[in-house]
Amino acid sequence: EQIEKGGYEHFMLKEIHEQPTAIKDTYRGRMLADEGLIRMAGVDDNLERIANAKRILIVACGTSWHAGLVAEYIFEELARIPVEVEYASEFRYRNPIISEKDVIIAISQSGETADTMAAIKLAKEKGAFAFGVCNVVGSSISRETHAGAYTHAGPEIGVASTKAFTTQITVLTLMALKLAKQNGTISHTEFMTYLQEMERIPAKIEKALKGDEHIKMIADIYKDARNCLYLGRGFNFPVALEGALKLKEISYIHAEGYPAAEMKHGPIALIDEEMPVVVIATKRGHYEKVVSNIQEIKSRKGKIIAIVTEGDEEVRDLADHVIEVPETLEPLTPLLTTIPLQLLSYHIAVLLGKNVDQPRNLAKSVTVE
Ligand code: G6P
Repeated sequence: EQIEKGGYEHFMLKEIHEQPTAIKDTYRGRMLADEGLIRMAGVDDNLERIANAKRILIVACGTSWHAGLVAEYIFEELARIPVEVEYASEFRYRNPIISEKDVIIAISQSGETADTMAAIKLAKEKGAFAFGVCNVVGSSISRETHAGAYTHAGPEIGVASTKAFTTQITVLTLMALKLAKQNGTISHTEFMTYLQEMERIPAKIEKALKGDEHIKMIADIYKDARNCLYLGRGFNFPVALEGALKLKEISYIHAEGYPAAEMKHGPIALIDEEMPVVVIATKRGHYEKVVSNIQEIKSRKGKIIAIVTEGDEEVRDLADHVIEVPETLEPLTPLLTTIPLQLLSYHIAVLLGKNVDQPRNLAKSVTVE
């Protein structure tokens, strides 16, 4: 087992650090930046059907559902196709309205999640085209779908999903770019800019990973918190949800993710000097609005841990701690902002002496209802 962990203390930490390579493996052979091409067999073979979808439905559970939410923002922004993201467990039992013009995308690391599988079967029965985004090759969901794209993240052993999440977002971004090109909803120049920037993402993740020691120090300060709030807007709202989920899963600290602007409709009541608030405040992305949310937290004495773009000065003056990530195109920021949140929960859980790779009550894959 020590060998399998490749010198890391836990599988989760190893998998966090594998993300630059995993993402390269995801786009290798698919994204040909020099030629300005994206090749994805599962999409290419069904291009008309997918690009002409009246609606894209995404079904998933857990972390994969969060990747679906990020994809919703990306598909709508780039490809201008309406997207709905559903918890598979809710979708399957509510007599959903599905037409033959719909494309349903199932996202599942394991490809074995029972609810996601059932949702896909149901949508297929109603004539939708089913596309799978799975990590495990040959898994049940990958076999049940009409077409798909593997994430190629390699085995994920830690129960808390990390590299599966960022590679799911990578696959879905490539897909969105491909559809955007097909439908003419982005210019060739924009398309090329995205491809070139995607190629820089692994190096930018490497850089974000270098914040590890600083993040560990922050983890030490907040490890005894009983609650924690995560806020983000736009593309980074789902990242806030995922950050909160990671903390809950492995440290057993109660955490909630919220769209930053919704804070005033409830969570703000919880904020006092005991409450750490993690805010994703990268440049662009409604930056000024997030800054004013930070001011609201500060005036209520909440402790602010902000994820900011490299070189940011404004938030640094307001926040108790800042964690920098490199700058990138806004729709790609989740690939970077996720990294410090994974490390933060990892270190908190380790400092609390929790079983990081196998948290209590959780399973890597939920194959029963
Ligand atoms: C379980 C795992 C999560 C995972 C979820 C969905 O709850 O603990 O990490 O996100 O299932 O799994 P899937 O394999 O469908 O992505």
